[in-house]
Amino acid sequence: MKPINVGLLGLGTVGGGTVNVLKRNAVEISRRAGRQIVITRASAKDLGKNRICDTHGINLSTDPMDIINDPTIEIVVELIGGTDFVKELLLKAIENGKHVVTANKSLIALHGNEIFAKASKKGVIVAFEAAVAGGIPIIKAIREGLSGNQIQWLAGIINGTGNFILTEMRDKGRDFYDVLAEAQTLGYAEADPTFDVEGIDAGHKLTILASIAFGIPLQFDKVYTEGISRITRLDVEYAEQLGYRIKHLGIARNTADGIELRVHPTLIPERRLIANVNGVMNAVLVKGDAVGASLYYGAGAGAEPTASSVVADIIDVVRALTSDPENRVPHLAFQADAIADIPVLKSDCFKTSYYLRLNAEDKPGVLADVTRILADHHISIEAIIQKEPLRDETAIPIILLTQITLEKEMNAAITKIEALKTVTGKVNRIRMETLG
Ligand code: HSE
Repeated sequence: MKPINVGLLGLGTVGGGTVNVLKRNAVEISRRAGRQIVITRASAKDLGKNRICDTHGINLSTDPMDIINDPTIEIVVELIGGTDFVKELLLKAIENGKHVVTANKSLIALHGNEIFAKASKKGVIVAFEAAVAGGIPIIKAIREGLSGNQIQWLAGIINGTGNFILTEMRDKGRDFYDVLAEAQTLGYAEADPTFDVEGIDAGHKLTILASIAFGIPLQFDKVYTEGISRITRLDVEYAEQLGYRIKHLGIARNTADGIELRVHPTLIPERRLIANVNGVMNAVLVKGDAVGASLYYGAGAGAEPTASSVVADIIDVVRALTSDPENRVPHLAFQADAIADIPVLKSDCFKTSYYLRLNAEDKPGVLADVTRILADHHISIEAIIQKEPLRDETAIPIILLTQITLEKEMNAAITKIEALKTVTGKVNRIRMETLG
């Protein structure tokens, strides 16, 4: 059979990795796909740049449209990143009848509904395994491996840069910005690193996971995101003393009231496997009604781990070329006409437990005032600890762990606690999950 011609948009870290993996494993790949897969064309902004791959034999161009309009190209692999410009490119590729493989999480999270609708109309595949958790085949696991389950919730460390920062801060006491700079040098961080540390990147990935887990439209605008920049070494230390680790989690939960979509720092029991996922590694814990909890772990970024997912998608597309479009695995796991508009909850309606750290005067009645406010808001206390004052300070740190409560009640209670004359500064609140 004649080889499949692939056109690559972008020859950066992941593009270079994809060229290398496809070349190195060409024999194994064609044994799996049933056909040879060859990158015949590629585009890059700067053709003179040093690359991690050998582009010998690939027809290079600076204009991606050369590839999109080339009738010999059957699969377009998009590894440029960004949204608006790339969206137009891919819609044009689909219009031209090409299958698409992309690692672009923001594109899928923000414009996936429109892109998939157009792809279905044209009978082409848009595959996006590499968009979430790099080399971990989590899309395939949820969309296909767990398709007999009702997914109840999932929780993931889905931003390697953020996990790398939290790990280095905890293990080595390193400074936040120093670690971030290293992540940028290593090629893990986004072009705009606030996407990593403020939870935007994880929010894009969570949007995609929630959609294929629950059969809902992609709706990034409804994801609650909170970053890691407010986490102090003190919180990390106190959490550890209480038997918890702080991780930046993306959580999607299907509740009776609606769906929770949230990204925020989270205390989790240190005995959980996911609490021990360190450095740039990613992990996603999925709870299905039949399978129970299952954990998927691996490299969430980097040239070849991400290329592993890109190449797997290319092979999937090649295998599906002879199947009727109606009989293919649906883009978002559920049949397009079965996507349900289940409401996504506002953060006020989240139900979780909390770690609170506050600084208070060391005098009788202070704790009683705090606990009375919590009781007034139906918030039950799990544990309470008074720490030694920090050096040169008279206020004492108080740590409270609560039981599960409604976030609206917690917000109101925190406002009242912060208004107490005996409490100084802000209450540092971190959500807690047992993930049991
Ligand atoms: N900036 C992302 C991360 C890259 O750190 O996880 C992979 O999506």
